[in-house]
Amino acid sequence: MEVIIVPTAQDVGELAAARIADLVASNPDAVLGLATGSSPQGVYAELHRRVQAGSLSFAGVRGFALDEYVGLPLEHPESYASVITRDVVEPLGFDPSNVRVPDGRADDLDRAAQEYDEAIAQAGGIDLQILGIGANGHIGFNEPTSSFASRTRIKTLAPQTRLDNARFFDNPDQVPTHCLTQGLGTILEAREVVLVAQGAGKAAAIAAAVEGPLTALVPGSALQLHRRATVIVDEDAASGL
Ligand code: GLP
Repeated sequence: MEVIIVPTAQDVGELAAARIADLVASNPDAVLGLATGSSPQGVYAELHRRVQAGSLSFAGVRGFALDEYVGLPLEHPESYASVITRDVVEPLGFDPSNVRVPDGRADDLDRAAQEYDEAIAQAGGIDLQILGIGANGHIGFNEPTSSFASRTRIKTLAPQTRLDNARFFDNPDQVPTHCLTQGLGTILEAREVVLVAQGAGKAAAIAAAVEGPLTALVPGSALQLHRRATVIVDEDAASGL
């Protein structure tokens, strides 16, 4: 695992974006794993800047979101399908038909999860997975105790995660209780992983994931098993290292 500490949150976004831009320049139909949440916003903003400048195109790039809430209508502004469209597909100019999000409204969620993993495999696997990390160490929505071998599946959201994400909803009760998420095993199959974190609120999770023991209690620690995992953090998020 490579850990890169940069001075500011903006530097985190710029460095991660540079990695992604290099990949897309050499492989215009690369497959990206897309994360939601506030952590990758700076990455997407910098990529948007490059697209606007004409130095980068996502027209042929394919994308798979990490996760989705169960039960939210597709058009709900906080469904990850909406978030990915708003934050990634539209600003970066992806072809919407090239981007897939797990179907959290499927009648058969187990089947939807299995089909999602199959779709990733059919696309040739993920070239680069973008990740944030939750305050409790989750990646995607793989909450503590998730198996390192897990595949895309239904998960119950931890109380802490529902609390953390309540800011996106009118009231905390509206935060869904379940989600579909790529598994840790799915994430570990990506050829490259770039995790970004900013701020002191992530310091404990970063320290545990990077320097702690491999444990299902800290899902981010699974990245220690990956051959090409890069963790890009600002000084505040690195303060527990
Ligand atoms: C969310 C997402 C994760 C994200 C994490 C941290 O619930 N499912 O993919 O990395 O929690 O969110 P944020 O970046 O907003 O702190």
